Amino acid sequence: KKIALVMGGYTGESVVSLKSAAVVAQHLDKERYEVFPIHVYQDSCYHLEANGNKTPVDFNDFSVTLVGKRVKFDGVFNIIHGSPGEDGKLVGYFDMLGIPYTTCDALTSSITMNKAYTKKIVEGIADLHVAKSAQLFENKAGLAEELLDELSLPIFVKPNNGGSSIGMSKAKSAEELTMALDLAFKEDDQVMVEEFVSGREFSIGIYKSNGKITVLPSTEIISSKEFFDFEAKYKPGVSEEITPGRLDERDVEKVRKIAEKVYQTLNCKGAVRMDYFLEMQTGDFYFIEINTVPGQTETSLISQQVKAVGMTLKDFYTELIEEMWH
Ligand code: DAL
Ligand code: MG
Repeated sequence: KKIALVMGGYTGESVVSLKSAAVVAQHLDKERYEVFPIHVYQDSCYHLEANGNKTPVDFNDFSVTLVGKRVKFDGVFNIIHGSPGEDGKLVGYFDMLGIPYTTCDALTSSITMNKAYTKKIVEGIADLHVAKSAQLFENKAGLAEELLDELSLPIFVKPNNGGSSIGMSKAKSAEELTMALDLAFKEDDQVMVEEFVSGREFSIGIYKSNGKITVLPSTEIISSKEFFDFEAKYKPGVSEEITPGRLDERDVEKVRKIAEKVYQTLNCKGAVRMDYFLEMQTGDFYFIEINTVPGQTETSLISQQVKAVGMTLKDFYTELIEEMWH
């Protein structure tokens, strides 16, 4: 089978995507699959990059022509974090062409890319809490003060369609909130502000194989930074990550159920990762967000969780690929 490994993308997360793609390419079962790395650039050119050659992709049918022969793909392994891979744009195009892919469909991808809309959908799920928040569509003078009438500090400020904590800050005063809003509105035309939940941070991978949902063990994140920011996420040693996270049996089971329900409710496909806080006073679980194209670098949380259950990355990727034809 011919698999297009689609990587890169239009956002600051493209560097992360290239790292994820390198790991996926290394571990894909070469006896089963012929892999074609397709690089999606910010300027919207797509190229097959192999053996030092760049071959443009024909947008009419997502094919490439190699030594005079047209190559069409049996499926796409989508490893683009952020736009256009994780927000539904690219997969909508694949749907139009009838090319299967490893990730969520266009509707689920576009909803889950938007942190505020996703929270509205999952907040009814039993045992899952969401922090108080507001969705903002424009920045203006006095906005921080206005928000502080409704929300208490500290407040997380997030580009609503962002990833990898790019453009995100934690504000502890009205002045910091103003600066944080300015920064986030540079990244996105929608911003979400959310009350800080004091607690321990966890992240959990969920995937489907043979039509059956499997929940991986949670990873506990202990960041030495103010929060799990870009540096803490990708620079080794800046955060400590424990897999499986330190949860008692009752909480492991509770989170497993929540994760499965979130995956079902959002109609997810492929491997996704849900981030959450365990609030210390009440023991409640707070939903942060879901990533439908989670990082797959060697140190990424999903890779750690797969290894923790004794599965090889090779078998994991095979399951994800086979599932797209299921
Ligand atoms: N957005 C990054 C890649 C992640 O969720 O892992
Ligand atoms: Mg994210």
